[in-house]
Amino acid sequence: MTNDYSGFVTYIKSKTGIDLALYKEAQMKRRLTSLYEKKGYGTFKEFSNALTSEQNLMDEFLDRMTINVSEFYRNQKRWEVLETKILPDLIKNQSQLKVWSAACSTGEEPYSLAMVLNKVQKGRFNHILATDLDRLAIEKAKIGLYNERALAEVPEDIKKEHFIKQGAFFKVSDKIKSSVTFKQQNLLNDRFDTGFDLIVCRNVMIYFTEEAKDELYHKFSRALKKGGVLFVGSTEQIFNPGKYGFESIETFFYRKI
Ligand SMILES: C[S@@+](CC[C@H](N)C(=O)[O-])C[C@H]1O[C@@H](n2cnc3c(N)ncnc32)[C@H](O)[C@@H]1O
Repeated sequence: MTNDYSGFVTYIKSKTGIDLALYKEAQMKRRLTSLYEKKGYGTFKEFSNALTSEQNLMDEFLDRMTINVSEFYRNQKRWEVLETKILPDLIKNQSQLKVWSAACSTGEEPYSLAMVLNKVQKGRFNHILATDLDRLAIEKAKIGLYNERALAEVPEDIKKEHFIKQGAFFKVSDKIKSSVTFKQQNLLNDRFDTGFDLIVCRNVMIYFTEEAKDELYHKFSRALKKGGVLFVGSTEQIFNPGKYGFESIETFFYRKI
């Protein structure tokens, strides 16, 4: 029932500020329908009535719509390109980089960035901004404790240097943690900081509509310095980079012209 869903979209926007209309509809509807059916509701209308009275259900809704799956060095080959080609080029003209992990989920991505930067810049301190819509994911990120599966792609020397084993888990070192600042932010609604050398935004744009992506690429382009780089996910190629003032420099890396 499309009307039922569009009423739900309006309800969520007024209640949380999140605009579900900017996410691909079929996918989002499927995810949310399976959640409300599991909870014993029959329609989006019944679901929104229940959300009004139950805070726990609202948390479950947010958890379901935000898909937090992540891992360190996700698509490791791309991180090698970042380390051996993109970063050496970026640091040629300046010693400190301004870096942003946008949609950072539970922290694996910004911490991977801190580790790679530490390696490339031989211990020089860098500051990384990490943002996500999901407050609970950010809380987990700040704790910095991960199971072994999340570390599957981490090179052995990095694992030794930056993780401390705690029982079945691995904790990110304080040095790495101290270089990342976490903030809650909605990419589709909130203002962006500017002057970035590198923006990493991976595995979230696939969930957005074409219109939302178009607007977001413009916003990222404005947030980057000239010569700055946008690093996207491995299914998120930009087909017309020139439209946003980008040139493709490696697969999944775009430089602001
Ligand atoms: C699949 S994770 C990707 C995590 C990481 N970037 C990676 O590639 O492993 C997607 C993340 O996007 C976040 N997200 C979804 N919509 C968002 C929005 N409008 N603004 C900011 N973050 C959003 C979710 O909360 C989730 O943590």
